[in-house]
Amino acid sequence: MTDIHCHILPDIDDGASDMGESIKMARMAYDSGVTELAATPHFFGEEESLGLLAQIKEGLDSFRRALSAEGIPLTVYSGAEILCTEETPVLAQMRCLPTIGDGRYALCEFYFDESVRTMEYVLGAIKREGYIPVVAHPERYEDIQRDPEIIGNWFEHGIIIQVNRGSLLGRFGQASEEAADYILSHGLAHAIASDAHSSRMRTPYLADIKRYAVESFGADYAKILLSENPARILRGKRVVSPYEL
Ligand SMILES: [Fe+2]
Repeated sequence: MTDIHCHILPDIDDGASDMGESIKMARMAYDSGVTELAATPHFFGEEESLGLLAQIKEGLDSFRRALSAEGIPLTVYSGAEILCTEETPVLAQMRCLPTIGDGRYALCEFYFDESVRTMEYVLGAIKREGYIPVVAHPERYEDIQRDPEIIGNWFEHGIIIQVNRGSLLGRFGQASEEAADYILSHGLAHAIASDAHSSRMRTPYLADIKRYAVESFGADYAKILLSENPARILRGKRVVSPYEL
C-alpha cells in the first residue's frame, strides 16, 4: 500500500516528536503492508512560511538516512499538508506550493469551519495555476458534514478527495464517520490515507482499514483507494475513479 498523508518527520509539526518515534511509525507502517509513503508535515499556506520548506527537506533527508541505517525498506517521498487560506493562491502563482512526491498534486487542508465558498475559491485558483488539489479529509469539515453532496461537485471538477482512515473507523466522531461513509459509498473518494501523527494514537497502520474497505466497498475499490491511486499521485500520474473499473 501507499500512504500519501503522514506526519512522520521528526520534530517539525505535531507529528513524530523525535527520530525514534519516526522510526517506530515507519516500522508500524511497513509491518501493516505500506511500502511507500509521502511525509507531509503541516505547512501554513502563506508567504511567511516559505522558510519552512528548507527545514522539511532537511528533515526528510535525515529520516531517509535513518531508515536505511535501520534497514527498513520503506520508500519516502517529499510532501506537505498545506493549510489553505485566501492567501494560498498567491503561493500557487509564485509556483512555490509544495507538492506530493514528484508531481503536481498539492495536499490541501482547511480550517474545519472554513466556508465552502472560500474552499472552492482556493481550490479553483490553485487548479488554474496547474496544480491538482488533493483535499485532505473533507469529511472533517463542518460544511461538508452538513451537505456531503458538495463532494460530488468537487469530484466532477477534478478535485482529488482523500478520506482519513480514522474517520472511517469512527475515531473523529459520528459526523466525520457518516460523511466519510457517504463519500466512499457514492464512489467519490480517490484515496484513503493514515494522516498519522504517532505510533500510539492516529497511527500509520493501514492493515485494519484495508480489511474494512474490502468488506464495505469491495476489493477492487479498496485497491484503488489504498494502492493504485496513492501510487499514481506520488508519481504525478492521472488517478482512476471507481467508474473506470
Ligand atoms: Fe494531516
